[in-house]
Amino acid sequence: MSAFARAQLTPFALDVAQGFALCGQRKLPPRWFYDDLGSALFEAITYLPEYGLTRADERLLREHASDLAFLTHPISAVAELGSGSGRKTRFVLQAASDGRRQLVYRPIDVSVSALSLCEKELGDISDVRPVREDWLHGLEQVARERNGGPLLLLFLGSSVGNIDRESIPDFLKSIRALLLPGDFFLLGADLVKDTATMISAYNDSLGVTAAFNLNILRRINQELSANFDLRAFEHDARWNARDRRIEMHLVCCREATVRVQALDTDFVFRAGETIWTESSHKFTGQELSDYARAAGFDPVTSWTDAEWPFVEALWRV
Ligand code: AVJ
Repeated sequence: MSAFARAQLTPFALDVAQGFALCGQRKLPPRWFYDDLGSALFEAITYLPEYGLTRADERLLREHASDLAFLTHPISAVAELGSGSGRKTRFVLQAASDGRRQLVYRPIDVSVSALSLCEKELGDISDVRPVREDWLHGLEQVARERNGGPLLLLFLGSSVGNIDRESIPDFLKSIRALLLPGDFFLLGADLVKDTATMISAYNDSLGVTAAFNLNILRRINQELSANFDLRAFEHDARWNARDRRIEMHLVCCREATVRVQALDTDFVFRAGETIWTESSHKFTGQELSDYARAAGFDPVTSWTDAEWPFVEALWRV
């Protein structure tokens, strides 16, 4: 493709072009899962019996909301990276605002529907000012527009697990650079647990995660005028013990030539070949405290769920 043709492409088309260009393993970034259908499927995943992660996150926030409010007093605003619907955030906002003052809540998300859900869900207990941006650009905007007291930044649901391990230190340093002394960072992260539990969390018996994974091909068909046969690809979730992460793949079951009109290209997928769509890294408590110090934060405290190993780590700048 010419440089000119490339310059015309949407970010999604560019990532597909790059991810499918043949130099070994084909890959797609997980951020493209979350169109309207993909976000609804993820929401459904959070109710699956096998996927204990979101419920653990929610339990911890509910149980420790008042400790959190006490430890972070007197914050004047809460910001959140990748807020989603904001369901879990209610506990934090409620405890921190204490009924007295109107706390500013700045959800940062690329999804318009997620942001309007946040406004609807949380507008009654906070002054919601949405930021429609990706994580770091959104936080930059929040940093520019802030006034008054310290900020509590939330990064929940183990979204940090999608970042490649070797990139996490730089990512955390970028966050730290946009905060001020006295600010807080609350990081929710899924912990390493027994392999069978981790694998079934990403390979549920209803097949919702399979649909969530395949939806990325449906999205390519729809938005980039491609002709993937979704039935020729199979969902697979693997535990990578060396890198301590679940990897989701779409396995090609029979050789297929797929035309992607928007890229004016035919891609050949061989039988057995996979498209790697997501990594969900799993952590240890120690590893997280090491990340905190390396990025210039002080670990304040952490809470771990008794049922599903998951941690909320509170750090201070
Ligand atoms: C939203 C990135 C935390 O990795 O567990 C759920 C996404 N993927 N099931 C995760 C996901 C498959 C989820 N995160």
